Amino acid sequence: MAANRVMFSCVFSMLVALMAAATMPSAVAEGETPPNYADALSKCLLFYEGQRSGKLPPTQRLTWRKDSALNDGQDAGVCILSVDLVGGYYDAGDNVKFGFPMAFTGTLLSWSIIEFSEELGPELAHAHEALRWLTDYLLKATAQPNRIFVQVGDPYSDHNCWERPEDMDTLRTTYQVNDTHPGSEVAGETAAALAAASIAFRSSDPAYADELLSRAKTVYDFGHTYQGSYGTSLGKWVCPFYCDYSGYQDELLWGAAWLNRATNSSQYENHIIHGIQQHMQMKTQLDETAREWFFGWDNKEAGIYILLQTQKAHNNYLDNGSK
Ligand SMILES: *[C@@H]1O[C@H](CO)[C@@H](O)[C@H](O)[C@H]1NC(C)=O
Ligand SMILES: *[C@@H]1O[C@H](CO)[C@@H](O)[C@H](O)[C@H]1NC(C)=O
Repeated sequence: MAANRVMFSCVFSMLVALMAAATMPSAVAEGETPPNYADALSKCLLFYEGQRSGKLPPTQRLTWRKDSALNDGQDAGVCILSVDLVGGYYDAGDNVKFGFPMAFTGTLLSWSIIEFSEELGPELAHAHEALRWLTDYLLKATAQPNRIFVQVGDPYSDHNCWERPEDMDTLRTTYQVNDTHPGSEVAGETAAALAAASIAFRSSDPAYADELLSRAKTVYDFGHTYQGSYGTSLGKWVCPFYCDYSGYQDELLWGAAWLNRATNSSQYENHIIHGIQQHMQMKTQLDETAREWFFGWDNKEAGIYILLQTQKAHNNYLDNGSK
């Protein structure tokens, strides 16, 4: 699980480093080769191609990777017909597709593209491709109302067997949240990813951006209407792997903040104000380690406040919310 933490912030931190390299005097001592951040950025985006699941496109640059997991979703057909869950990304060195951190990756990739599209230069196309690989999968996972397929692959079976995804014979069990077994953190994060991606694609592909934004709204509504943690709904299938230790309130707020930005409307303002209050209350119940100020797939707090700070009416949100 350690490697995925690297993956999820790879582009964002790379771009921050690029910005720093461009704006700050060089700290490299004489005779030393300066770090090549442009190369690091290219490799970082290439890494996403190595993590691809599903049917690989002709543009695949890491050609040692082949098609894999082409039947994902077929076991989901108990009450419903089988679902197409082919695609998306594997998690770090595992062959499980964990929807919660995957969605967070989508939100951060989108944010990187939104903030740094000019600095990305020729890598912008690769960043868009990496993001679309993820959002295409999220659209499949959220295709049915009030249901999200949040994980594919039995994590115990997977972790007991180290093999290439191309050859795997482990269980590809599909896990879902729905109106009786909610998952507000995974819904909030998925909504955030879809809404943020709609901004990232707005100018290059407006029809796709509309589709993403419309889905972001229904997914957020589902997470907000049926509140609960997917750790409770799915138990040992998701915890301790990607258990949301910081509570789902931050993801609902994060989702509303991204929807607010993506829709340019005041539609989500009340959700944000209410979300801040809920999140503050939740924080007082957390133990000290979970309250730590870090930004990652579990705790979105720092990102939320930076995002709200960049929005027009931020002072209102922050003032009203803390009262
Ligand atoms: C709702 O989700 C739970 C937990 O994943 C699952 O056991 C149940 O079958 C789902 N309900 C329906 C109607 O699909
Ligand atoms: C939101 O505003 C930005 C900047 O004015 C614009 O580019 C974008 O198209 C708008 N988005 C929507 C969904 O209206």
